Amino acid sequence: MASCSTKPQLPAHLAKAPSSLPPNTHPLPRTGQLAALLTGLRNKETSRGAFVFYADRVNRLLVEEGLNHLPVLEKTVTTPTGLDYNGVGFEGKICGVSIMRAGESMEAGLRECCRAVRIGKILIQRDEETALAKLFYAKLPEDIAERYVLLLDPMLATGGSAIKAIEVLIDHGVPEERIIFLNLVSCPEGLQAMYDAYPKVKIVTAWVDEALNQQKYIVPGLGDFGDRYFTSR
Ligand code: PRP
Ligand code: URA
Repeated sequence: MASCSTKPQLPAHLAKAPSSLPPNTHPLPRTGQLAALLTGLRNKETSRGAFVFYADRVNRLLVEEGLNHLPVLEKTVTTPTGLDYNGVGFEGKICGVSIMRAGESMEAGLRECCRAVRIGKILIQRDEETALAKLFYAKLPEDIAERYVLLLDPMLATGGSAIKAIEVLIDHGVPEERIIFLNLVSCPEGLQAMYDAYPKVKIVTAWVDEALNQQKYIVPGLGDFGDRYFTSR
């Protein structure tokens, strides 16, 4: 019988992220809760309302973990008991940047954790035939070069879209090492492409899937995230 001090075990095929991931990849811990939420997202029978609920839950976990990667500085405050408390505060300002359209689904989770956070947008779309990413538009906070950037996109397939978004951020003066990419489902091909292009960008991903199929979709994956979150029934 399991001891009451241990957490439930996941089935072996779900229990561990792949061992040979690039060093800038930080998968979320594989808990039963996370695996159950991902199972709900992957199920093609899941309704749009339930899909949104599961995705928002995972997004919140991603934002919480992403914030753990931001540097802190020592900060002393005085408590109501009159004593000084030597704590910490975040070192710098942050902003979110979503890769439209699917990345916009992650903005609410960021706002729940960071009140009044500034959010920029980059519209990048993958060509449905070639899977090549095309940049259409970027609107970013004017002082983005002085901020840490949480880049938001739930799907990392070939890596083309995220790499193009990072190019835009760097063109706007954001140092590579100040970018944290928050992502729901990734795959080894996309993670390697990101590492080859921008090794100092940290990637916080909820789940690393097996591979890409011939259509450059993630498998087992969850299908087209944007369609399922925003437009499906
Ligand atoms: C999806 C997804 C990523 C991209 C991932 O967006 O949200 O942005 O594809 O694929 P990649 O790593 O091969 O570039 P899509 O362009 O389909 O647009 P959408 O957000 O409007 O669904
Ligand atoms: N975009 C998605 O939404 N899903 C994939 O598997 C690949 C790109």
